[in-house]
Amino acid sequence: MTSNAQKPGEPFVPTKLIKHFQANHTTRDAQSSGWSALWDSQQNDLWDRGKPSPALIDFIESAPWPAPEGRRPKALVPGCGKGYDVVMLALHGFDVYGLEVSPAGVETARAYAAGQLKAPFAYNYGDGNQDKYSKDKRGEVTFLVGDFFKRDWESKCVREGETFGGFDLIYDYTFLCALLPEMRQDWGRRMGELLGPHPAKLVCLEFPLYKDLKLPGPPWGLREGIYYDVLAGGGTGVFDNDEAAQAALQRPIKGPMERVSRIMPPRTYPQGEGTDQLGIWQLKSR
Ligand SMILES: C[S@@+](CC[C@H](N)C(=O)[O-])C[C@H]1O[C@@H](n2cnc3c(N)ncnc32)[C@H](O)[C@@H]1O
Repeated sequence: MTSNAQKPGEPFVPTKLIKHFQANHTTRDAQSSGWSALWDSQQNDLWDRGKPSPALIDFIESAPWPAPEGRRPKALVPGCGKGYDVVMLALHGFDVYGLEVSPAGVETARAYAAGQLKAPFAYNYGDGNQDKYSKDKRGEVTFLVGDFFKRDWESKCVREGETFGGFDLIYDYTFLCALLPEMRQDWGRRMGELLGPHPAKLVCLEFPLYKDLKLPGPPWGLREGIYYDVLAGGGTGVFDNDEAAQAALQRPIKGPMERVSRIMPPRTYPQGEGTDQLGIWQLKSR
């Protein structure tokens, strides 16, 4: 996603994406139609990074994912866009669900996945690692049209005879920052509902951590304390200054999750180099 990262004192210049939302899609109810309109008019280049997340690839390849008994690990990428990370995770052995509110977005993602699953680009793997992930161990890719905040699509993420038990991995990149701040608390609650029990993990590539919290989005500026507040603190995650966001890190854990680790990934997209962090979460131990 493009972003307004102007230096302090420089005037704020709204991007095309921000102007689009400011014109007709300022309310919560109008968010989904705002994104769909961009997909319908083929303006997804406004946030498209052109490849899967290097930070997620390195994380996935750093250790074998704990294998659930009798099945492949199951992953969810909400607001998956063109599906780069969905395909990459399937190539690494996950059964992956890409969720998109836009039917045109899902169509675009399905076309992308069809090509990549036949002949994957090298960018899906860390340097020299392609041969470690054999074709017969690949998982399946499913794209669903659905609203993350509703539950009607969850039943489509189970095989016959199964009940929905949550995902083993959920990956968020530029989904939280795409949402109005007032939607953050519900984002955290939904993540808690969708994540499976231990050792399942929610992985958030935190972006944009440098953007002034007072500026409009998308992308809306985020901070460590915002993720912490909604996932662990059980708060709203709405702060308009750095001090308040930082103070949220001291809140007692009343939310659904606890943080396992937070690292600066060695590789990430150029837009987040030097600032992106990878936050790893799990359901709170009771
Ligand atoms: C900024 S884009 C990020 C796309 C993708 N994560 C990427 O890195 O390319 C946000 C995406 O979330 C989708 N989206 C927005 N609200 C959604 C919702 N409530 N449920 C599912 N998808 C949603 C939009 O259609 C858009 O494709």
